[in-house]
Amino acid sequence: MPVEISNLSRRDVDQYIDLLRAGFGEELGQRGTNIARTAHMAKVLVSCGGLPLRLIKAVTGHSLFILAAKDGSHVVGALGVLEARSPSLIGIYVTSEYRGQGIAIGLVQEALRRLKKQGYKEAHVSVIDHTAQLLAQRGGFVPYDHTDLYEHSLPANISIPDGAFVKGVQRLSLPRHAYDLGPLNHITGVRVRRLIAHLGKEPTLAAMLIALPHQIVGEIQPVIIIPGREEVFPALLEAGYKWFSHLGRTLVSVSLHDDTASLADVLTSEGFVKRRSWVELRIDL
Ligand SMILES: CC(C)(COP(=O)(O)OP(=O)(O)OC[C@H]1O[C@@H](n2cnc3c(N)ncnc32)[C@H](O)[C@@H]1OP(=O)(O)O)[C@@H](O)C(=O)NCCC(=O)NCCS
Repeated sequence: MPVEISNLSRRDVDQYIDLLRAGFGEELGQRGTNIARTAHMAKVLVSCGGLPLRLIKAVTGHSLFILAAKDGSHVVGALGVLEARSPSLIGIYVTSEYRGQGIAIGLVQEALRRLKKQGYKEAHVSVIDHTAQLLAQRGGFVPYDHTDLYEHSLPANISIPDGAFVKGVQRLSLPRHAYDLGPLNHITGVRVRRLIAHLGKEPTLAAMLIALPHQIVGEIQPVIIIPGREEVFPALLEAGYKWFSHLGRTLVSVSLHDDTASLADVLTSEGFVKRRSWVELRIDL
Protein backbone atom coordinates (compact mmCIF):
# COMPACT_ATOMS: atom_id res chain seq x y z
CA MET A 1 0.00 0.00 0.00
CA PRO A 2 1.50 3.41 -0.93
CA VAL A 3 2.19 5.96 1.81
CA GLU A 4 -0.48 8.69 1.82
CA ILE A 5 -0.36 12.18 3.28
CA SER A 6 -3.37 13.58 5.15
CA ASN A 7 -4.28 15.72 8.15
CA LEU A 8 -3.41 14.18 11.49
CA SER A 9 -6.63 12.89 13.03
CA ARG A 10 -7.47 12.44 16.69
CA ARG A 11 -6.83 8.70 16.56
CA ASP A 12 -3.34 9.30 15.06
CA VAL A 13 -2.20 11.54 17.94
CA ASP A 14 -0.64 8.79 20.08
CA GLN A 15 1.46 7.57 17.15
CA TYR A 16 2.39 11.17 16.34
CA ILE A 17 3.56 11.71 19.91
CA ASP A 18 5.68 8.54 19.61
CA LEU A 19 7.31 10.05 16.50
CA LEU A 20 7.97 13.32 18.36
CA ARG A 21 9.55 11.34 21.20
CA ALA A 22 11.75 9.37 18.78
CA GLY A 23 12.81 12.42 16.77
CA PHE A 24 12.91 15.22 19.30
CA GLY A 25 12.70 13.51 22.72
CA GLU A 26 16.12 14.75 23.81
CA GLU A 27 15.38 18.38 22.88
CA LEU A 28 11.87 18.25 24.37
CA GLY A 29 13.36 16.70 27.52
CA GLN A 30 15.90 19.52 27.81
CA ARG A 31 13.05 22.04 27.58
CA GLY A 32 11.21 20.12 30.31
CA THR A 33 8.24 19.49 28.00
CA ASN A 34 5.44 17.50 29.58
CA ILE A 35 4.74 15.13 26.67
CA ALA A 36 1.56 13.61 28.19
CA ARG A 37 0.01 17.08 28.49
CA THR A 38 1.18 18.01 25.00
CA ALA A 39 -0.56 14.87 23.67
CA HIS A 40 -3.73 15.84 25.52
CA MET A 41 -3.64 19.36 24.05
CA ALA A 42 -3.00 17.95 20.54
CA LYS A 43 -6.06 15.68 20.91
CA VAL A 44 -8.23 18.62 21.92
CA LEU A 45 -6.97 20.73 19.00
CA VAL A 46 -7.61 18.09 16.32
CA SER A 47 -10.96 16.92 17.78
CA CYS A 48 -14.27 17.58 15.94
CA GLY A 49 -12.47 17.59 12.57
CA GLY A 50 -10.10 20.36 13.74
CA LEU A 51 -12.87 22.77 14.82
CA PRO A 52 -10.83 24.20 17.80
CA LEU A 53 -7.98 25.03 15.38
CA ARG A 54 -10.36 26.72 12.97
CA LEU A 55 -11.76 28.80 15.83
CA ILE A 56 -8.27 29.85 16.91
CA LYS A 57 -7.52 30.86 13.32
CA ALA A 58 -10.77 32.85 13.03
CA VAL A 59 -9.99 34.82 16.21
CA THR A 60 -6.22 35.26 15.92
CA GLY A 61 -5.23 34.62 12.30
CA HIS A 62 -2.80 32.02 13.66
CA SER A 63 -3.24 28.29 13.53
CA LEU A 64 -1.51 24.95 13.22
CA PHE A 65 -1.91 21.95 10.99
CA ILE A 66 -0.13 18.64 11.24
CA LEU A 67 0.38 16.44 8.21
CA ALA A 68 0.76 12.70 8.73
CA ALA A 69 2.31 10.29 6.22
CA LYS A 70 0.47 7.00 6.72
CA ASP A 71 1.06 3.48 5.50
CA GLY A 72 -2.46 2.15 6.08
CA SER A 73 -3.25 3.17 9.64
CA HIS A 74 0.44 3.33 10.59
CA VAL A 75 1.86 6.90 10.94
CA VAL A 76 5.37 6.75 9.43
CA GLY A 77 6.13 10.46 9.15
CA ALA A 78 4.79 13.85 10.21
CA LEU A 79 5.28 17.56 9.75
CA GLY A 80 3.74 20.45 11.70
CA VAL A 81 2.97 23.86 10.19
CA LEU A 82 2.45 26.93 12.36
CA GLU A 83 0.33 29.41 10.45
CA ALA A 84 1.23 33.00 11.20
CA ARG A 85 2.03 36.02 9.02
CA SER A 86 5.04 34.04 7.85
CA PRO A 87 4.19 30.37 8.50
CA SER A 88 6.86 27.97 9.75
CA LEU A 89 7.37 24.26 9.18
CA ILE A 90 8.21 22.48 12.43
CA GLY A 91 9.26 19.03 13.58
CA ILE A 92 9.60 16.92 10.42
CA TYR A 93 10.27 13.27 11.15
CA VAL A 94 10.16 10.02 9.13
CA THR A 95 10.66 6.63 10.82
CA SER A 96 13.99 5.08 9.89
CA GLU A 97 12.62 2.15 7.85
CA TYR A 98 10.69 4.55 5.57
CA ARG A 99 13.51 7.01 4.90
CA GLY A 100 14.98 7.66 1.46
CA GLN A 101 11.63 7.14 -0.30
CA GLY A 102 10.67 10.79 -0.78
CA ILE A 103 8.23 10.88 2.18
CA ALA A 104 9.74 13.96 3.83
CA ILE A 105 9.88 15.95 0.58
CA GLY A 106 6.29 14.84 -0.06
CA LEU A 107 5.26 16.27 3.35
CA VAL A 108 7.12 19.54 2.67
CA GLN A 109 5.59 19.92 -0.80
CA GLU A 110 2.08 19.20 0.49
CA ALA A 111 2.54 21.78 3.29
CA LEU A 112 3.75 24.41 0.79
CA ARG A 113 0.90 23.60 -1.62
CA ARG A 114 -1.67 24.16 1.16
CA LEU A 115 -0.04 27.40 2.34
CA LYS A 116 0.10 28.77 -1.21
CA LYS A 117 -3.56 27.83 -1.74
CA GLN A 118 -4.42 29.81 1.40
CA GLY A 119 -2.68 32.88 -0.04
CA TYR A 120 0.52 32.91 2.05
CA LYS A 121 3.43 34.57 0.25
CA GLU A 122 6.32 32.95 2.13
CA ALA A 123 7.20 30.26 4.65
CA HIS A 124 10.23 29.47 6.73
CA VAL A 125 11.88 26.60 8.54
CA SER A 126 14.66 26.23 11.14
CA VAL A 127 17.01 23.28 10.90
CA ILE A 128 19.59 21.94 13.34
CA ASP A 129 20.63 18.98 11.34
CA HIS A 130 22.58 19.00 8.04
CA THR A 131 20.31 16.37 6.43
CA ALA A 132 17.27 18.46 7.28
CA GLN A 133 18.96 21.49 5.70
CA LEU A 134 19.58 19.49 2.50
CA LEU A 135 15.92 18.43 2.58
CA ALA A 136 14.73 22.03 3.01
CA GLN A 137 16.98 23.25 0.19
CA ARG A 138 15.72 20.40 -2.02
CA GLY A 139 12.22 21.75 -1.25
CA GLY A 140 13.27 25.19 -2.54
CA PHE A 141 14.10 26.93 0.79
CA VAL A 142 17.08 29.30 0.89
CA PRO A 143 19.19 30.01 4.04
CA TYR A 144 18.90 33.61 5.32
CA ASP A 145 19.76 33.63 9.04
CA HIS A 146 21.51 31.71 11.79
CA THR A 147 20.38 31.37 15.42
CA ASP A 148 22.26 30.44 18.60
CA LEU A 149 20.30 29.38 21.68
CA TYR A 150 21.78 30.21 25.10
CA GLU A 151 20.50 28.93 28.45
CA HIS A 152 20.76 29.84 32.12
CA SER A 153 19.07 28.24 35.11
CA LEU A 154 16.95 30.15 37.62
CA PRO A 155 17.17 31.69 40.14
CA ALA A 156 19.85 34.07 38.92
CA ASN A 157 21.17 37.44 40.03
CA ILE A 158 22.23 40.20 37.77
CA SER A 159 23.47 43.76 38.19
CA ILE A 160 21.83 46.48 36.13
CA PRO A 161 23.68 49.55 34.78
CA ASP A 162 22.78 52.96 36.22
CA GLY A 163 19.97 54.73 34.38
CA ALA A 164 18.61 51.52 32.79
CA PHE A 165 15.00 50.52 33.29
CA VAL A 166 12.45 48.27 31.60
CA LYS A 167 8.81 48.94 30.70
CA GLY A 168 6.12 46.47 29.69
CA VAL A 169 4.35 47.50 26.48
CA GLN A 170 1.16 46.38 24.73
CA ARG A 171 2.71 46.26 21.30
CA LEU A 172 6.12 46.12 19.74
CA SER A 173 6.67 47.26 16.20
CA LEU A 174 7.64 43.70 15.35
CA PRO A 175 5.87 40.98 13.42
CA ARG A 176 3.63 39.08 15.83
CA HIS A 177 5.30 35.99 17.13
CA ALA A 178 3.75 32.72 15.92
CA TYR A 179 2.79 31.86 19.51
CA ASP A 180 1.28 35.27 20.19
CA LEU A 181 -2.40 34.29 19.99
CA GLY A 182 -3.77 37.50 21.50
CA PRO A 183 -6.90 36.88 23.58
CA LEU A 184 -6.59 33.10 23.18
CA ASN A 185 -3.22 32.93 24.90
CA HIS A 186 -4.83 32.42 28.29
CA ILE A 187 -6.85 29.44 26.97
CA THR A 188 -3.86 27.73 25.37
CA GLY A 189 -1.65 28.55 28.37
CA VAL A 190 0.92 30.37 26.20
CA ARG A 191 2.19 33.45 28.08
CA VAL A 192 3.70 36.33 26.14
CA ARG A 193 5.14 39.64 27.36
CA ARG A 194 6.67 42.52 25.45
CA LEU A 195 9.32 44.68 27.08
CA ILE A 196 11.36 47.73 26.15
CA ALA A 197 14.61 48.61 27.91
CA HIS A 198 15.55 52.28 28.23
CA LEU A 199 18.82 53.94 29.03
CA GLY A 200 17.78 57.33 30.36
CA LYS A 201 15.07 58.50 27.96
CA GLU A 202 16.20 56.36 25.04
CA PRO A 203 14.49 53.06 24.19
CA THR A 204 17.46 50.91 23.21
CA LEU A 205 16.44 47.24 23.28
CA ALA A 206 13.15 45.34 23.10
CA ALA A 207 12.24 41.73 23.81
CA MET A 208 9.44 39.22 23.49
CA LEU A 209 9.20 36.91 26.49
CA ILE A 210 7.45 33.62 25.78
CA ALA A 211 6.50 30.84 28.19
CA LEU A 212 4.94 27.84 26.48
CA PRO A 213 2.69 25.58 28.52
CA HIS A 214 4.05 22.35 29.94
CA GLN A 215 7.70 23.47 29.70
CA ILE A 216 10.20 24.49 32.37
CA VAL A 217 11.90 27.02 30.10
CA GLY A 218 11.00 30.63 29.39
CA GLU A 219 12.35 32.16 26.18
CA ILE A 220 13.64 35.69 25.60
CA GLN A 221 13.83 36.97 22.02
CA PRO A 222 15.70 40.31 22.07
CA VAL A 223 15.57 42.94 19.34
CA ILE A 224 18.11 45.76 19.05
CA ILE A 225 16.54 49.21 18.63
CA ILE A 226 19.74 51.25 18.91
CA PRO A 227 22.93 49.34 18.01
CA GLY A 228 25.91 49.72 20.32
CA ARG A 229 23.91 49.92 23.58
CA GLU A 230 24.27 46.25 24.54
CA GLU A 231 25.09 47.25 28.15
CA VAL A 232 21.32 47.67 28.76
CA PHE A 233 20.66 44.01 28.03
CA PRO A 234 21.08 42.91 31.72
CA ALA A 235 18.01 45.04 32.58
CA LEU A 236 15.92 42.98 30.14
CA LEU A 237 17.42 39.75 31.45
CA GLU A 238 16.54 40.71 35.02
CA ALA A 239 12.93 41.48 34.02
CA GLY A 240 12.84 38.10 32.26
CA TYR A 241 14.20 36.27 35.31
CA LYS A 242 11.54 37.83 37.53
CA TRP A 243 8.64 37.07 35.20
CA PHE A 244 9.71 33.51 34.45
CA SER A 245 10.36 32.79 38.16
CA HIS A 246 6.88 34.12 38.92
CA LEU A 247 5.50 31.68 36.29
CA GLY A 248 7.38 28.80 37.93
CA ARG A 249 9.93 28.35 35.12
CA THR A 250 13.38 27.12 36.16
CA LEU A 251 15.33 27.76 32.98
CA VAL A 252 15.73 30.82 30.72
CA SER A 253 16.75 30.60 27.08
CA VAL A 254 17.77 33.46 24.79
CA SER A 255 17.83 33.05 21.02
CA LEU A 256 20.26 35.30 19.15
CA HIS A 257 20.04 35.85 15.39
CA ASP A 258 22.64 37.38 13.06
CA ASP A 259 21.34 40.87 13.90
CA THR A 260 21.46 40.32 17.68
CA ALA A 261 24.71 38.31 17.79
CA SER A 262 26.44 41.31 19.45
CA LEU A 263 24.49 40.45 22.66
CA ALA A 264 26.36 37.13 22.99
CA ASP A 265 29.18 38.65 25.07
CA VAL A 266 26.67 39.87 27.69
CA LEU A 267 25.09 36.40 27.87
CA THR A 268 28.46 34.68 28.25
CA SER A 269 29.55 37.10 30.99
CA GLU A 270 26.26 36.45 32.83
CA GLY A 271 26.96 32.69 32.80
CA PHE A 272 24.70 31.64 29.92
CA VAL A 273 25.83 28.55 28.01
CA LYS A 274 25.33 28.06 24.26
CA ARG A 275 23.19 24.92 23.83
CA ARG A 276 22.21 24.69 20.17
CA SER A 277 22.55 26.47 16.84
CA TRP A 278 20.37 26.28 13.79
CA VAL A 279 19.97 27.70 10.31
CA GLU A 280 16.84 29.60 9.23
CA LEU A 281 15.61 29.10 5.67
CA ARG A 282 12.85 30.84 3.74
CA ILE A 283 10.87 30.21 0.58
CA ASP A 284 8.73 32.58 -1.52
CA LEU A 285 5.48 30.88 -2.42
C1 LIG B 1 15.42 14.39 7.65
C2 LIG B 1 14.34 13.32 7.34
C3 LIG B 1 12.98 13.88 7.72
C4 LIG B 1 14.38 12.99 5.83
O1 LIG B 1 13.30 12.06 5.56
P1 LIG B 1 13.24 11.19 4.22
O2 LIG B 1 11.83 10.77 3.98
O3 LIG B 1 14.24 10.12 4.28
O4 LIG B 1 13.69 12.24 3.09
P2 LIG B 1 13.35 12.14 1.54
O5 LIG B 1 13.49 10.74 1.09
O6 LIG B 1 12.04 12.81 1.25
O7 LIG B 1 14.52 13.01 0.91
C5 LIG B 1 14.29 14.29 0.37
C6 LIG B 1 15.62 15.05 0.21
O8 LIG B 1 16.21 15.29 1.48
C7 LIG B 1 17.65 15.15 1.38
N1 LIG B 1 18.03 13.98 2.19
C8 LIG B 1 17.20 13.17 2.89
N2 LIG B 1 17.93 12.24 3.57
C9 LIG B 1 19.23 12.49 3.28
C10 LIG B 1 20.46 11.90 3.69
N3 LIG B 1 20.50 10.84 4.52
N4 LIG B 1 21.62 12.43 3.22
C11 LIG B 1 21.61 13.48 2.37
N5 LIG B 1 20.46 14.09 1.95
C12 LIG B 1 19.31 13.61 2.40
C13 LIG B 1 17.94 14.91 -0.09
O9 LIG B 1 18.12 16.19 -0.70
C14 LIG B 1 16.66 14.27 -0.57
O10 LIG B 1 16.42 14.49 -1.94
P3 LIG B 1 17.01 13.43 -3.04
O11 LIG B 1 16.58 12.07 -2.57
O12 LIG B 1 16.37 13.85 -4.31
O13 LIG B 1 18.48 13.61 -3.00
C15 LIG B 1 14.62 12.01 8.13
O14 LIG B 1 15.95 11.60 7.87
C16 LIG B 1 14.41 12.15 9.62
O15 LIG B 1 13.31 11.98 10.10
N6 LIG B 1 15.52 12.42 10.38
C17 LIG B 1 15.44 12.56 11.81
C18 LIG B 1 14.66 13.80 12.27
C19 LIG B 1 15.26 15.09 11.82
O16 LIG B 1 16.46 15.26 11.72
N7 LIG B 1 14.37 16.07 11.56
C20 LIG B 1 14.76 17.41 11.20
C21 LIG B 1 14.95 18.24 12.45
S1 LIG B 1 15.50 19.91 12.08
